[in-house]
Amino acid sequence: MSILEQLEQLKAEAEREIKEASQQSKIDELWTKYFGRKGGELTSILRGVKTLSAEERPAVGKAANEVKVFIEELFAVQKEKIYQDGLAAKLSAEQIDVTLPGKWKAPGRIHLLNITMRRIKEVFKGLGYSVVSGPEIETDYYNFEALNIPSNHPSREMWDSFFLREGLLMRSHTSPSQVHVMEKQEPPVRVICPGKCYRRDAVDATHFWEFHQVEGLLVDKNVTFSDLKGTLELFAKGMFGHRRRTRFNPSYFPFTEPSAEVMVDCFVCDGKGCRVCKNSGWIEIMGSGMVHPRVLKGVGYDPEKYTGFAFGMGVERIAMLTYGVDDIRLLYEDDMRFLSQF
Ligand code: PHE
Repeated sequence: MSILEQLEQLKAEAEREIKEASQQSKIDELWTKYFGRKGGELTSILRGVKTLSAEERPAVGKAANEVKVFIEELFAVQKEKIYQDGLAAKLSAEQIDVTLPGKWKAPGRIHLLNITMRRIKEVFKGLGYSVVSGPEIETDYYNFEALNIPSNHPSREMWDSFFLREGLLMRSHTSPSQVHVMEKQEPPVRVICPGKCYRRDAVDATHFWEFHQVEGLLVDKNVTFSDLKGTLELFAKGMFGHRRRTRFNPSYFPFTEPSAEVMVDCFVCDGKGCRVCKNSGWIEIMGSGMVHPRVLKGVGYDPEKYTGFAFGMGVERIAMLTYGVDDIRLLYEDDMRFLSQF
């Protein structure tokens, strides 16, 4: 076969093979087959041109060059085609149907307890109180002694505590925060101390071993029981509505004297009597009282010069009353079906 015939054959073969190649790897392979430095079919023919006689060389050289350009062009076209086909396939695979409905993601929401906590804080901030927090791990001194609850005093039973190592416990109420605040500053004091408390209570619909309280404390010159009543009446109205009325029943806490439990007329039935107020028309919302002189003395305040009142409320209880939740455990179960209602 003459070289010219060989070139013709090569040209036809290359055209068929290259046009059939549908992958870049095949193209690379074919490129080596035709143009490879060693053993490339066209490369060999082009090299051979040098060995031809002077008469043959121009015609064969020209033909060989034309075939070379022709095949190179085939490669370029096919390469572009593979690229475009790949791109088209990718684009159609990744097509976005903008008419499909979006994926719904539950937005975070504020937990019922935090909603309640925020509302309580807002009311007291409006009355000029500042918000402070105390430690959840307390010493016996702060949780009891400084609050006029000596060891072995029967009232300790009101706060069945989780004890840690000797002398330390999880605070069983927020009242120890009062002591921390008073130790740090001189009167006038006007603070609320919200936070978690822990009690070794058996869990039921109204008790949980972990819960929240908001403590309040006001100490100044000439603070009277009337101030306590006025303040907590304002709180009840701010929290439960301006029509609410309050009532103060005698109570007992070792760190307040006198002590009172604060009742608000039932905001569910307007005092007529219902399930929430157990038909009494009144709901207990917190404990309160005038700070015991011994507590004042203990932190270095002069009880002859200063008086004050304190109060403490359970946030779970307020949240449950406000939103009609009948089991405290719902507040700790993270069940979205419950939580998403608020
Ligand atoms: N610390 C009391 C309790 O846990 C509540 C309270 C606070 C009562 C302040 C009076 C004054 O029951």
